[in-house]
Amino acid sequence: MTSSSQPSGAAEVFEEAAPSYDRTGVSFFGPFGAELVRQADLRPGERVLDVGCGRGAVLFPAAHAVGPTGHVTGIDLAPAMIALTAEDVARAGLDHVDVRVDDAQQPDFPPRSFDAVLAGLVVFLLPEPQQALRAYARLVRPSGRVVISTFGVQDPAFVAATDALAAHLPTEEPRPTRPAGPFADEQAITATMTGAGLAVTSIVEHRVESRFDDADHWMRWMWSHGARALLRHLPTDRLPAATADAAAALEAARVPGGGLRLTTEIRITVAVPVEPPGPPHA
Ligand SMILES: C[S@@+](CC[C@H](N)C(=O)[O-])C[C@H]1O[C@@H](n2cnc3c(N)ncnc32)[C@H](O)[C@@H]1O
Repeated sequence: MTSSSQPSGAAEVFEEAAPSYDRTGVSFFGPFGAELVRQADLRPGERVLDVGCGRGAVLFPAAHAVGPTGHVTGIDLAPAMIALTAEDVARAGLDHVDVRVDDAQQPDFPPRSFDAVLAGLVVFLLPEPQQALRAYARLVRPSGRVVISTFGVQDPAFVAATDALAAHLPTEEPRPTRPAGPFADEQAITATMTGAGLAVTSIVEHRVESRFDDADHWMRWMWSHGARALLRHLPTDRLPAATADAAAALEAARVPGGGLRLTTEIRITVAVPVEPPGPPHA
């Protein structure tokens, strides 16, 4: 994709993934989104921005929490995510929800437009996460909050299976990175938020157990989200061997009676703007 109106990088991967994203029969984004909204403690009538809204794992629980007297706006850089989520919003008859294509790096809204800015599993995908968080701090009212989720400790079987796939990548392709840098642990998250003009009020860990019928089901799930970034670089003739190696690694996740079980941990961080932004300088 070359046009500036089309997504690039991470969002291009999600553009391709949108039709199956969170639609492979695996409990993952839904429970994480619901818990983020619980931690945000939204009240009826509040105005909310959901950045990187995807297929609405955060958006729909937020819409329920603020009710028809409130409003939720979802933005995403992938037009297919927005088109499909807009259909779901219309089907659900949610007049107090709108979604649009916009960049989570620098959302295009006036200062203090929202009571809460929510970002479910997206800030670590952005080119300049701390700058984005600084923008969110400006978008919330003085009493508002910014709530983000980031990945915590990953299931060892997931790590082993992903490494098994990555071993088949052409040498020039980058290997998958583990949670690191600005969101590596609670200390790093606090420092990142502080540097963005936000004071952390809580960081809560939340775990979700995901079940898969077998390794093929796990692969279909991998194609349906950000892991697609790795899979699309595997040469087609390497896919069967890569899948077999991943399946062998996933044996550690097998449960009695059949199927696979992986546990994923996220951290949900709630923060408030440190000081109300003053009027613009003359
Ligand atoms: C892992 S998904 C999370 C989606 C949703 N928040 C959830 O919890 O299921 C990341 C989402 O961020 C979007 N995204 C990636 N980069 C973005 C950017 N710069 N601006 C807006 N959305 C972006 C992707 O298109 C994708 O829908």
